[in-house]
Amino acid sequence: MQTVQHILEQNQISAPLTETINTVLTASKDIALLLQKGAMGDILGCAGQENVQGETQKKLDVISNDMLKDALKACSHVAGIASEEEDLPVAANADGQFLVIYDPLDGSSNIDINVTVGTIFSILPSNGGDTAQEATYLQKGRNQLAAGYVLYGPSTLLVMTTGQGVDIFTLDPDTKEFVLTEAQSQITPTTKEFAINMSNQRFWAKPIQTYVADMLQGEEGPLGKRYNMRWVAAMVAEVHRIINRGGIFMYPWDNREPNKPGKLRLMYEGNPMSMLVEQAGGLASNGEIAILDIEPELIHQRVPVILGSKEEVNTALSYNK
Ligand code: AHG
Ligand code: MN
Ligand code: MN
Repeated sequence: MQTVQHILEQNQISAPLTETINTVLTASKDIALLLQKGAMGDILGCAGQENVQGETQKKLDVISNDMLKDALKACSHVAGIASEEEDLPVAANADGQFLVIYDPLDGSSNIDINVTVGTIFSILPSNGGDTAQEATYLQKGRNQLAAGYVLYGPSTLLVMTTGQGVDIFTLDPDTKEFVLTEAQSQITPTTKEFAINMSNQRFWAKPIQTYVADMLQGEEGPLGKRYNMRWVAAMVAEVHRIINRGGIFMYPWDNREPNKPGKLRLMYEGNPMSMLVEQAGGLASNGEIAILDIEPELIHQRVPVILGSKEEVNTALSYNK
């Protein structure tokens, strides 16, 4: 039986980075416990406030954000923190070497109905920058030293990469250890399964309209195969399904709020998920370039997302030409 600690050692991950990852994992285990309490823990429902992006915060968005923030501030290797639920970056330890960027609870609209949610994290080098300043955090996804998510579903899982492939760990409820249950996970290059919020169809740009219309035509259409559709409304669950059995996930630009490039956030969702997908042999694009190659301009910047099985993502991208 190999734990996450064995794999980090095997991959020769430095002690400071290992400790930083462990800090995220320890907080995630506490979040998992809280989620298990559900309605008994007074954690469901809204917090009565909005985040900087104008979204209503759930109580658990706020609680899980604070749990991660407090734990990371106490870890001497962490120089700064940026969270989907914080207006501004949070400076941590002057001697720290890492920036930890996270979505404390992805898919939080699912909490009240007891459906899968997750914590997404991304670790960047701080390069000695001023961690109270947004500019220090505005690094391309390619700079990530580690990325992953903890999925709170029927089991609690950790899916992580340190740039040496993607490993999947299951939280053993008895020992409270993340145990390796799938090494070097790979996304199948082809698929017949897509995930997109179809209710936004009329707001999409023409190429996505045409691509989805072609998929819906099945065997008789130009793509020549019958597709199935899934939508969990939690990116973390969508990406997890794709890592396990392939598929394509899209949250494209739409004209509901034309000045926003999409719904999902580049730093908290796009970059960590794209590193995982690429490390598992898939592709992740904003429709034009690899998400990991985008030069961020704002910490809360949005990004259109098309990711998953390599051949299917290439098919989707061919509609842009
Ligand atoms: P969050 O809960 O962190 O705000 O993220 C929700 C995101 C993402 O997880 C999911 O793919 C998408 O929003 C769901 O969007 P719809 O509400 O359009 O289904
Ligand atoms: Mn999210
Ligand atoms: Mn969130």
